[in-house]
Amino acid sequence: GAVAGGGGGGPPPMYSEGLPLIGNILAFMRDPLALVRRGHAACGGVFTIRIAHKRMTFLLGAVPHAAFFRATDEQLDQTEVYRFSVPVFGKGVVYDAPLPKRLQQFRLLSLSLRVNMLETYVPMMVAECEAFFNAWADEGEVELFDALSQLIILTASRCLMGREIRENLFGQVSRLIHDLDEGMQPLSVLAPYLPTAAHRRRDAAREELRALYTPIIKARRAADADRAAGADAPAAPDDMLQTLLESRYRDGRAMDDNEVVGMLVAALFAGQHTSSITSTWTGLELLRSPTQLAAALAEQDAVRSTFGDELTYASLGAMNVLHRAMKETLRMYPPLIFLLRSVVTPRPVGGYVIPSGDVAMVSTQVSGRLPELFDEPDVWDPERFAPGREEDRRAPFSYLGFGGGRHGCMGEGFAYLQVKTIWAVLLRTFDLRAVGPLAAPDFGAMVVGPKGATTIHYRRRVPRGGDPAAAAA
Ligand code: HEM
Repeated sequence: GAVAGGGGGGPPPMYSEGLPLIGNILAFMRDPLALVRRGHAACGGVFTIRIAHKRMTFLLGAVPHAAFFRATDEQLDQTEVYRFSVPVFGKGVVYDAPLPKRLQQFRLLSLSLRVNMLETYVPMMVAECEAFFNAWADEGEVELFDALSQLIILTASRCLMGREIRENLFGQVSRLIHDLDEGMQPLSVLAPYLPTAAHRRRDAAREELRALYTPIIKARRAADADRAAGADAPAAPDDMLQTLLESRYRDGRAMDDNEVVGMLVAALFAGQHTSSITSTWTGLELLRSPTQLAAALAEQDAVRSTFGDELTYASLGAMNVLHRAMKETLRMYPPLIFLLRSVVTPRPVGGYVIPSGDVAMVSTQVSGRLPELFDEPDVWDPERFAPGREEDRRAPFSYLGFGGGRHGCMGEGFAYLQVKTIWAVLLRTFDLRAVGPLAAPDFGAMVVGPKGATTIHYRRRVPRGGDPAAAAA
């Protein structure tokens, strides 16, 4: 039960269950979300749970969220909690870099995710989607999660990693990414350097990836030098790799090869599972909602009559039904269910002070379902985000699909374009329906996606090789 923390500047209340220490560990391992919900019911929006030797302080509700997201890096730090990423992203990259350098690296990464770059990514996303879905039969069933995971890594490799990788080395690189992925499991969070076979493969893959990139980066730097000297050289490519190569730290230094590769891997990892999962849930819910599906189809017709058949940054921006469907999906099924920081300086919130040394925790999953933040929180209802609806009444930091504050997601715009492109192409090309019951979330995964079958049935409206006029008749 709850032990009162006293407020008035004291530490938050402690919540504990069962046997001291062991009870909490068991409850957390069995079902962390249920434990957090019970803590919230007993103590309110701020409380501490002791798990092993760690004090974890949970922050639930708009005011507690603000205390988390408005903090500076000097107050709430990410270094400790994201240390497990260092062997994957590499030495001297983001969470392994001292804070001033890390913040510059994030700023340089953000240059490749700004609107002008997003506009250039759209045709690449569209081309990848069309090629991918063109390879499907005229009719059949498919596991949506598997299919969209493949498609998203193809798109990411084109927009982020560059044409050289996408066109010549894709098979090799996807194998290396798989090995990096396998080296980033829950065990690796606790003990990132444990000499397991998976960790050895992870380290070998990171090294191989760098070696693979060495000649590519060398050629790009040579072409940059030629262009700078006014010599004949092809135009600079429009991708994240090129933006990183051209970017400079404040002291004028360029990133070295290892830093460039590390930033690419970091961006890939931030976007890969999150986007695959979100595009899958969005479709699984949309295909089970006759009204939303009808609205999404009508929206495609309306957008085509305004913008023509081509999918562009502007036409995707006009797809509000799809936008709200994805936003609502992230409220109910956030792939990153916990966000963590170490408390460096005592952090006041709601009459308490969280002591330094605690781990501050936000649960996007629990908070997305809080009735104090969202009416009927277990109902998938994209219309809740329609203009003039409850959104206007919500406090800042109620909605946490992309986190918030200074470390809010940098890829939000990219992710919306990616997911909307996929569903625009699918809805325009096929008649679709969901098969079987809706999957449940796999809360045991690092990035939480659907567990089990995600089957859909598709039928091409215009059979391949068929004549559109004949098909319409
Ligand atoms: C951070 C979610 C896609 C790049 C975050 C955070 C969340 C999030 C919740 C905050 C983490 C924290 O506070 O500790 C998502 C979801 C996505 C998505 C749900 C897809 C639907 C992407 C993509 C990219 C990306 C496609 C890049 C191409 C980043 C980066 C950060 C971040 C670089 C760290 C920002 C910082 O710490 O300053 N994301 N993300 N994300 N995301 Fe995303």
